[in-house]
Amino acid sequence: MLKVGVVGAGDWGKNLVRIFSQLREVELAYCCDADPVRQKAVAQNHPGVKLTKHFEDIVADPSVRALIVASSAVSHYPIAKAALGAGKHVYVEKPLALSSSHADEMVALARANNLKLMVGHLLLYHSAVGHIKRLVDSGELGDVFYVYSQRVNLGRIRHDENALWSFAPHDISVILHLLGEFPVSVSARGESYLQQGIEDVVFVNMKFPNRKMAQLQVSWLDPHKVRRITIVGSRKMVVFDDVESTEKVKIFDKGVTGVSYDSYGDSITLRFGDISIPHIQMTEPLRAECQHFVDCIMKDTRPLTDGVDGARVVRILEAAQRSMKLEGEPVTLSES
Ligand SMILES: NC(=O)c1ccc[n+]([C@@H]2O[C@H](COP(=O)([O-])OP(=O)(O)OC[C@H]3O[C@@H](n4cnc5c(N)ncnc54)[C@H](O)[C@@H]3O)[C@@H](O)[C@H]2O)c1
Repeated sequence: MLKVGVVGAGDWGKNLVRIFSQLREVELAYCCDADPVRQKAVAQNHPGVKLTKHFEDIVADPSVRALIVASSAVSHYPIAKAALGAGKHVYVEKPLALSSSHADEMVALARANNLKLMVGHLLLYHSAVGHIKRLVDSGELGDVFYVYSQRVNLGRIRHDENALWSFAPHDISVILHLLGEFPVSVSARGESYLQQGIEDVVFVNMKFPNRKMAQLQVSWLDPHKVRRITIVGSRKMVVFDDVESTEKVKIFDKGVTGVSYDSYGDSITLRFGDISIPHIQMTEPLRAECQHFVDCIMKDTRPLTDGVDGARVVRILEAAQRSMKLEGEPVTLSES
């Protein structure tokens, strides 16, 4: 049995507590939360789990082999660093850290101690994203030209991070996964309407090699609940709508043929084909993600969303934050 502890049993962390308490190869030994109300809820649902206010209690127990960090973003780095330093595998909710130097340090520490460091880029464990990735890799969409996403709704308004750091890790991780490339520059604009210095609405644009582009919009101040990613390829186009209950992926056999830079557009023809909705066997993404973490520890394999992946996303978030301060000026990026 893999003995684990969870730090942070809030709105999201309670889901991790539930799943890790159900996985067959796992013993959920501890749950840490600084808030007694949250502790009480865990005690009611998981009576055998030891409760503490101090994550150091879990870190100090040599029988615990892995720590799951679902506390507020600002605490990810110190808690993960302490756990890695004590020889424990670590799963950290997104964002991995709040700076690329901290993220790099976590990656180096995990590597030096031969430990797994995984980040909760949930959508990469979503069956729909897996399906779209296969479409991209098989060439069915042709060359991917550009991707855009919207992740907007009304609430939950956070006080300790802005909408960029709260929501965009999801879209950025999917975009990097689908394109298999790292952007060369990022520009972003955002505005704080509700709390000073905490952007509620952010628009990010990423430029990739070979003229590929990605655009994302994140907000917790919007009348609509939208969770949508659109991928436009030279042959086909795909829409992933995560708010849809069943028909989450639609493939549009639409495009333009006869495009040539040498011609004057005379031969360009619009092509309107069928729209297909593939049957995708849905599983709970969070359960798949947690099981993957356990499997990677048990089989000594590399997590799909390892620390390196987490650090890449943090590097883009950091560049977007810098660009916002510079009124949208593009910030150039390199992968390391
Ligand atoms: N993957 C996803 O889809 C997803 C969705 C929502 C949130 N999250 C992430 O999960 C994390 C938690 O989000 P949430 O919505 O549950 O927040 P939350 O504020 O509801 O819960 C955070 C909990 O952590 C506890 N906590 C914070 N710092 C602590 C510390 N140092 N020691 C002990 N307890 C501490 C707080 O008391 C609180 O109960 C964040 O990193 C967030 O980005 C991920």
